[in-house]
Amino acid sequence: MNLNLKVNSKDHLEIGGIDTTEIAEKYGTPLYVIDEEKIRDNYKRVYNAFTKFYKNFKILYACKANTNLAVMRILESEGSNIDAVSTGEVYTAIKSGFSPDRILFTGNNVRDDEMAYVDSEGVRINVDSISQLKRLAKIVNPDGNNDGYKISFRVNPNVGAGHHEHCITGGPMSKFGIMEEEAVEVYQMAIDLGFKPVGMHSHIGSGILNPEPFKLATEAMMKIAGNVHKNTDVEFEFLDFGGGLGIPYTPEEPLLDIEPFAEEITGIYKDKLADYGMGNPDLYIEPGRYIVGDASYLLTRVNTIKNSYRKFIGVDTGFNTLLRPSMYGSYHHIVLANNANAEAVEKVDVAGNVCESGDLFARDRILPKIEEGDLLAILNAGAYAFSMASQYNSRPRVGEVLVNNGESEIVREKETYDDLYTKQIVPDRLK
Ligand code: LLP
Repeated sequence: MNLNLKVNSKDHLEIGGIDTTEIAEKYGTPLYVIDEEKIRDNYKRVYNAFTKFYKNFKILYACKANTNLAVMRILESEGSNIDAVSTGEVYTAIKSGFSPDRILFTGNNVRDDEMAYVDSEGVRINVDSISQLKRLAKIVNPDGNNDGYKISFRVNPNVGAGHHEHCITGGPMSKFGIMEEEAVEVYQMAIDLGFKPVGMHSHIGSGILNPEPFKLATEAMMKIAGNVHKNTDVEFEFLDFGGGLGIPYTPEEPLLDIEPFAEEITGIYKDKLADYGMGNPDLYIEPGRYIVGDASYLLTRVNTIKNSYRKFIGVDTGFNTLLRPSMYGSYHHIVLANNANAEAVEKVDVAGNVCESGDLFARDRILPKIEEGDLLAILNAGAYAFSMASQYNSRPRVGEVLVNNGESEIVREKETYDDLYTKQIVPDRLK
């Protein structure tokens, strides 16, 4: 990982031109700090890399990574489109100013009322199963004529990869998409039901730094699309290869070099389009983590140092704010924010404040000498951090601050104790 950290003359970590110790003082900890410029840079880097090699290109930001409304506004202003996987995400995208034509809904195990809502908003539905297709047909037009209603299908290209078993979404163990063998039949079924299938989608997994699985998946999906094109009347308007682009979490991991990556993927894409005579449909990708992952930091303060069987550095938040280390064993780099150039000297465990032994941000991590009262910055907390946060242990969710050009603004107030109970109703007889 190219840490590329900004450290000021006081040896304090800076984010967006602001001293983290000042941010912590002003807003309190724990706190997520989002760097606007990083999001914009990340977006532009991907967009420029792909459009250099293929003009009909769109980024559909996978907003499951981070749906903060300010983050959504930033990406809306960059011209992004949205991959939404739930009706809540569709609602959030519309609320954030994305017109329906900029949103693709890729749900799985979707209820009828959810499809009806997405349809009513005019958002395109990417269908995951034959069951969903048949139910959608009844929703769109109960009389049986779907009148060229445009849809696409998620296919499972039988290639999968990911940073953890839970994050592999292609291949024989995955619940997602339709199989290669049934693709022609399913597209034909859609046509027979009156739909107009115009797209194909796949997403093979998440947190992938190696370009190879993406290349294999691109070839595999192009083969499926080519076959559908040859055997049905389908003319593809877009082919969507999903997200999954990894970011380095450890200092040793390299960056996914986006320009050569884009060149390879678009190269395969163009070759296969020509082979199968498919014209120039739009190429979509759906990065989430790559756009927002390294743009946020979780600031947490050390309140307890315990020398027991091991040395524990105890901090003021836990897996309720960043689940990834506990859920996937993920590495998140930790910086001593108030002394960011200090040399790493001792092996410690960094433990959260949740009442579970698995609540660790790091095990056997070599860090500088840490004192009670020190401020830690946990890196790469922009993707799947707040969006997977909970109120476990009855801890109100923490706030978020956006920084840009030396200015900071609250973009999510921290919850209060009362927020823990807003939707609860105690029956009168129990009062
Ligand atoms: N498109 C679809 C249909 C997806 O299911 C996903 C992620 C993405 C795009 C974006 O993937 P990304 O570019 O962010 O890797 N909670 C896990 C990640 C789960 C991702 C699920 N789907 C984690 O913290 O690593």
